[in-house]
Amino acid sequence: MSKRTIVAMPGDGIGKIVLEECIRLLDAAGFEADYVNGDIGWDFWCKEGNPLPARTIELLEKHKIGLFGAITSKPKDKAEAELAPELRNKGLVYFSPIVTMRQRFKMDICMRPCKAFKGNPLNFIRRTADGGFEEPLVDTMVFRQNTEGLYGGVEWSNAPDIVWDAMMTHKNFEKNFSGHPRNEVFISTRILTKKYSERILRAAFDYAKERNLKGITVCEKPNVIRETSGMILKLAQDIAKKDYPEISVWDTNIDAQMMWLTKNPEDYNVVVSTNMFGDILSDGFAGLVGGLGFASSAQFGESGVAVFEPTHGSAPKYADYEIPIVNPIAMFLSACMMLDYIGEKELSQKIQNAIATVIKEGKVRTYDMMKLRGSQDVIHKGAASTKQMTDAVIAKL
Ligand code: NAI
Ligand code: MG
Repeated sequence: MSKRTIVAMPGDGIGKIVLEECIRLLDAAGFEADYVNGDIGWDFWCKEGNPLPARTIELLEKHKIGLFGAITSKPKDKAEAELAPELRNKGLVYFSPIVTMRQRFKMDICMRPCKAFKGNPLNFIRRTADGGFEEPLVDTMVFRQNTEGLYGGVEWSNAPDIVWDAMMTHKNFEKNFSGHPRNEVFISTRILTKKYSERILRAAFDYAKERNLKGITVCEKPNVIRETSGMILKLAQDIAKKDYPEISVWDTNIDAQMMWLTKNPEDYNVVVSTNMFGDILSDGFAGLVGGLGFASSAQFGESGVAVFEPTHGSAPKYADYEIPIVNPIAMFLSACMMLDYIGEKELSQKIQNAIATVIKEGKVRTYDMMKLRGSQDVIHKGAASTKQMTDAVIAKL
């Protein structure tokens, strides 16, 4: 195994806690790597006016692989108020470093696995007609287009003339919106390109093909959002016909899909969607397999830079506990995705098996797995600390 350099970006709050534990686990599992620290997050916004300093971008450019904890973001007024005094009134505007990272490195493909572990008390259960219950094991990979669509950042309030005039050429804009004062009209766009739609679809098809799955589900809203959702669904059907004839393309509408999550979630193994719907879907599916403490993700693309991160945030209220209580498993599973990505599949499987064993045995559970409200007390109520969970996984390697 050749030694790798990984850019470790702890970020803020519990991001720092879970990433540290994750590296401890990777070391114990025998993954040979050097970790270089990548600065990112709120502190760097406050101190330097940039939550993603150029030196971190350079590190990612050089080493290509990043492990990321989580960051804190705050609204515009707070962002301005917390800036170092000498940086204020200089026109600095806070922008999410995660979105910057995604766009800068064109990490257009985001994978979010939502897989139930046997024995997890947070798994989805369903009532049966006879009053009993069953626990279908959800195993879904959500493919989310990560750079375009509603999170593409092309937005206006009080649009300039040229934008307003262009909008006015559309009869629906003219009819429904032009009667409002311009400064009371707010525009966020949803732009999709064929190239990046095709890339996310092909990633989903390839995943299904490797696993001999029968189909993929395109979850959009083509009956209403005809130009963009309609395009991606048609593109999926065309690609399937041409290159994946053995794989079916099913389609669901995002609203109905959310309802079906509570009925037959085990029927969806591969779901592919655009940026915002993919974000919603992956949280929805994550809720069926344990929630934020279990939700991992990978993002990668053409530049070769790939970043692996839990989908939870920095949970500031738990950041300063003397004994950290948050669940590190989402971070661990993100690291497993990193190992898969760089070809260390055996090591990844070894760690996943250890996690599965700890969950199945049920002796070591963080507070979320015990359905407790997070507080310093949970340790006295029998919840494992973050470190104890890491130790338990290491013991099963
Ligand atoms: P959050 O994900 O940080 O926390 C929400 C709640 O989920 C927590 O209060 C906690 O009860 C639970 N939770 C989260 N992670 C957990 C874990 N590992 N183990 C057990 N329980 C866990 O979301 P919130 O509170 O909306 O945002 C806090 C900050 O994080 C904000 O500044 C937000 O902007 C940022 N954020 C950052 C993200 C990222 O870095 N990728 C993603 C989401 C939010
Ligand atoms: Mg989200």
